[in-house]
Amino acid sequence: MTPFERSRGSWTFPFPGLSLARSPPDDRPTFWTRALGETPEVYGERLREQDDATWRAIDPTRSKLGAALCKGLRELPVPPRGRVLYLGGATGTTASHVADLVGRRGGVYVVEKSPRPFQRLLDVARRWPNLFPILGDAREPRTYLSWVPPVDALYLDISQPEQAEIATDHARLFLRSGGGLVLALKVPSLRKGGGRGPLSPAEEASRSLSRSFDLGPSVSLEPFHRGHFVITGHYRGTGREA
Ligand SMILES: C[S@@+](CC[C@H](N)C(=O)[O-])C[C@H]1O[C@@H](n2cnc3c(N)ncnc32)[C@H](O)[C@@H]1O
Repeated sequence: MTPFERSRGSWTFPFPGLSLARSPPDDRPTFWTRALGETPEVYGERLREQDDATWRAIDPTRSKLGAALCKGLRELPVPPRGRVLYLGGATGTTASHVADLVGRRGGVYVVEKSPRPFQRLLDVARRWPNLFPILGDAREPRTYLSWVPPVDALYLDISQPEQAEIATDHARLFLRSGGGLVLALKVPSLRKGGGRGPLSPAEEASRSLSRSFDLGPSVSLEPFHRGHFVITGHYRGTGREA
């Protein structure tokens, strides 16, 4: 086996910029995205040169998307060349991989409310031509309504109890009908906001989301991120069309 074997195995991801390799010495599967940024390193991730491109390893301990892929996420409802609204961008670790995935003809609109990580997100945006940072609060989506066009997918990772409601509000305002959802849920943060009924907080979030989205199976991110899992789905509502 070569150190960088290209194989999508049973994965059905259509991304030309996503590759699965098994890395020596332990042969663990690693996902890589083809870097769009000119200076490609964002968070100390491993880099490789192949096919006249630089590839960036998605570190599953740093990125919940990377963890979900390693844990068997089989459908990523983000189309190549698509537009993504990403809530909770922090310093751009995962958002930069998503920007690699959608490619130059796609775009990732990244909302982050905290000014400190936003400074580092700005630095990533200077290097990634398709990453557009927005300093904003996901609880007030109308404040950035005029800056974000209709999108093909929503990505949420804001660790807030009301994430399911925030996803639904954003779908109504930004997501096209049938558009994708990727949502990282943190069970401890959900507990702060509820979970006192017969359903677990995660079940409550799923139930709330399932009113507007057709959901796929959720993927536990253990042992990479304790108490987290990723839910994906497709929007059933009317949505916002281009
Ligand atoms: C777990 S971190 C995100 C990590 C990031 N998605 C990644 O994988 O690289 C959560 C981020 O959400 C941001 N956040 C929390 N509440 C928010 C809100 N209401 N609006 C926008 N961002 C928010 C936090 O400031 C924090 O940077």
